[in-house]
Amino acid sequence: MTMRRIIDPATSAGIYSILGALVVPRPIAWVSTRSADGVENLAPHSFFQIVSTSPPIVMISTVGEKDTARNARETGDLVVCGAPVDLIEQINLSGVEFPADRNEFAELGLTSEPSERVAPPRVAQSPYALECRVVDIIEMGNGVLIFGEVVLVAIDEDMMEGTRVRAQGLDLISRLGGNAWGEIGTQHDVPRVTWEQYQKTTRP
Ligand SMILES: Cc1cc2nc3c(=O)[nH]c(=O)nc-3n(C[C@H](O)[C@H](O)[C@H](O)COP(=O)(O)O)c2cc1C
Repeated sequence: MTMRRIIDPATSAGIYSILGALVVPRPIAWVSTRSADGVENLAPHSFFQIVSTSPPIVMISTVGEKDTARNARETGDLVVCGAPVDLIEQINLSGVEFPADRNEFAELGLTSEPSERVAPPRVAQSPYALECRVVDIIEMGNGVLIFGEVVLVAIDEDMMEGTRVRAQGLDLISRLGGNAWGEIGTQHDVPRVTWEQYQKTTRP
């Protein structure tokens, strides 16, 4: 039998890095916001999930005092952009704690393009953007959970195959534990099984 290490979060100072290394790979939301006085802001967030599909709602969680959370709260808008492998340096550098009056697009030589339904711009070099309106903000523990309803999706045309996103199309980077980042890697095409099909199959 495998020996198990038992960790009690109440007494473990390292719980943040342990959870960060276990809940992997985490997709990265490259989040564009604009402050109430018009300063553009861009920051990566790997605490990121879909929480509803009708209406479509995504969630990011910011920990600590972040421009992203303040801007989202004050203006009600955010844009979640995909984080492509070839921009790993800029994605990482956009996580530098820049002063609030600095525009990360300008600092990092990224091109912004106007969004259609919300005020913050999209990252032109990113393969997709989810234009979102804030529908709720919940504080939980030390996290500020920002829920954004997706009001428009913009995807590079060559990522599409008919009405579907090409499975092999998106070269997105993810967050692993510590300083490690991951690429998508091998994909397995495993069809979903209905209850009817399940009853007829031989179990593994
Ligand atoms: C890949 C990556 C993922 C990150 N994920 C998060 C996250 O999920 N939540 C968070 O609060 N900070 C996260 N950070 C740190 C923020 O990006 C960093 O604090 C940033 O300066 C916040 O910028 P802002 O103050 O402009 O919002 C991450 C950093 C990197 C490099």
